[in-house]
Amino acid sequence: MTKSFYVTTPIYYVNDAPHIGHAYTTVVGDVLTRWHRQKGESVWFLTGTDEHGEKIMRTAQTHGISSQEWVDKLVETEWKPNWRALNIANDDFIRTTEVRHTERVQRFLQGLKDAGHIYAGKYEGPYCVGCEEFKIPGDLTLKGEEWLCNMHGTPIEIIKEDNWFFRLSAFIGPLLAHYEAHPETCQPESARNEVISFLKSGVTDLSISRSTFDWGIQVPWDKDQIFYVWFDALLNYATAVGLGDSSESEGGKKFAEVWPPDVHLIGKEILRFHAVIWPAMLMAGNLATPKMVFAHGWLLVGGEKMSKSKFTGIVSKDITDHFGVDAFRYYFLRAIPFGSDGSFSWEDMSARYTSELANDFGNLASRSAAMIEKYCGGVLPVVSHAADLEAALKTAVDKADAAMCALDFQGGILAIMDFCKRVNGYVTEKEPWVLAKDQVNKIELDGILYNTAESLRALAVLLHPVMPATCEILWQSLGAREKLGELSAQKIADVAAWGQLPEGATISRTPVLFPRLETSA
Ligand code: MSP
Repeated sequence: MTKSFYVTTPIYYVNDAPHIGHAYTTVVGDVLTRWHRQKGESVWFLTGTDEHGEKIMRTAQTHGISSQEWVDKLVETEWKPNWRALNIANDDFIRTTEVRHTERVQRFLQGLKDAGHIYAGKYEGPYCVGCEEFKIPGDLTLKGEEWLCNMHGTPIEIIKEDNWFFRLSAFIGPLLAHYEAHPETCQPESARNEVISFLKSGVTDLSISRSTFDWGIQVPWDKDQIFYVWFDALLNYATAVGLGDSSESEGGKKFAEVWPPDVHLIGKEILRFHAVIWPAMLMAGNLATPKMVFAHGWLLVGGEKMSKSKFTGIVSKDITDHFGVDAFRYYFLRAIPFGSDGSFSWEDMSARYTSELANDFGNLASRSAAMIEKYCGGVLPVVSHAADLEAALKTAVDKADAAMCALDFQGGILAIMDFCKRVNGYVTEKEPWVLAKDQVNKIELDGILYNTAESLRALAVLLHPVMPATCEILWQSLGAREKLGELSAQKIADVAAWGQLPEGATISRTPVLFPRLETSA
């Protein structure tokens, strides 16, 4: 059995209104998994919602409904529609209130307890409900008499509880050895360095249960306690694919097929959870650790992480209503080097939309279709070859594939768009509209029109993971489906083979792929 390429996003706090920061990670996961599907790989893409903890319980109370009703409503009215609107093709959606999750969490953690990794202790110290995190001094700033969480800028609470503890400190040595031997498992390098220095600074055991409220998964051996929300949440990556189920059951088979995860995509603020606590939990449970945790940067507003709590969250719909879904998907991956922070600006997005999408890509498609209609009656002429375009395409595919697989989305998209520019240059240089004036040039003209359409075939395949709906329209207009099959079935490895569009294909005028932007008065 070949292992599936398994990619996850964080499970988002269900009571945060989805904004473009969440969309950024999920679109990245979608593009990455669509690319790998087009490489012919078996793929599993998971996202979901984190539904337990004090923060969620308190918000439900302020709305006067039960926690369960509150989270059910948010998943159905906010999160799932948000991902559908952005054309996210996730294979599964995990909710931490689902029985499949709670039962597997209890079974796994009972196993850790039985193996001696969990013990009873007392916790007294700072806790930030916004982060749902036990804080250490470096995470806090003193303002007047109050300690504030650096992340939220809000006062922390001091909690004092009899809790269950996980022997995290026992895994410092194994984790350091792991990152020494497999540096590629924590990326980018800056994130890995941060993790290593954190480990070297002396990590203490972790309180993994709470006893002062009940919105969580019950500790099976102590009915007065629930698991700490992060300990439950991290396990979603494994519970969603059958953690601990018998090997012949459906869950067990799924687990064997996908484990370990190939890429956990996360924002850099949750790095310690994913690169310290999570692999330690897996080591304690004798399970393979993830092949890669990639901590990306933040979308900033006014130089700070965009967030709902600071009232700086921009919702995707504000952008997609104006630019469309595919331009939204394209923009963030194209504009921000993956791993760095980036600021969203309407001006930059408008400029790229117009120059790269509407002019370079959209106009090429409409010019090509219009000329084939005008000069060839809408029927694709005989197969032709253009050595320089073919070579440029080959280079673009190799570069794009290497970059996309290395999670360099900006590099991948640039390689493809450079090819698009090259094709525009070819058309401008050959001036088919001049050749068309004299019947003597018919063979040359046909060749140019064929090569342009064939280049668009390649662009439709290469840009499909990034802009699926637009590329479907283009595929349709090239008359490609009939002869070549579904666009999603086209393989990256075959894209550079020239001459796939057949002579005689019916080319129809594309609806405008990227309409001119409405300027508000
Ligand atoms: N529930 C936890 C994650 C548990 S995973 C086992 C959580 N949820 S969250 O709703 O706060 O989502 C955090 C994630 O959303 C970030 O790690 C990142 O993927 C994404 N982003 C939220 N705001 C963001 C920005 N401003 N910029 C980029 N990504 C952001 O933490």
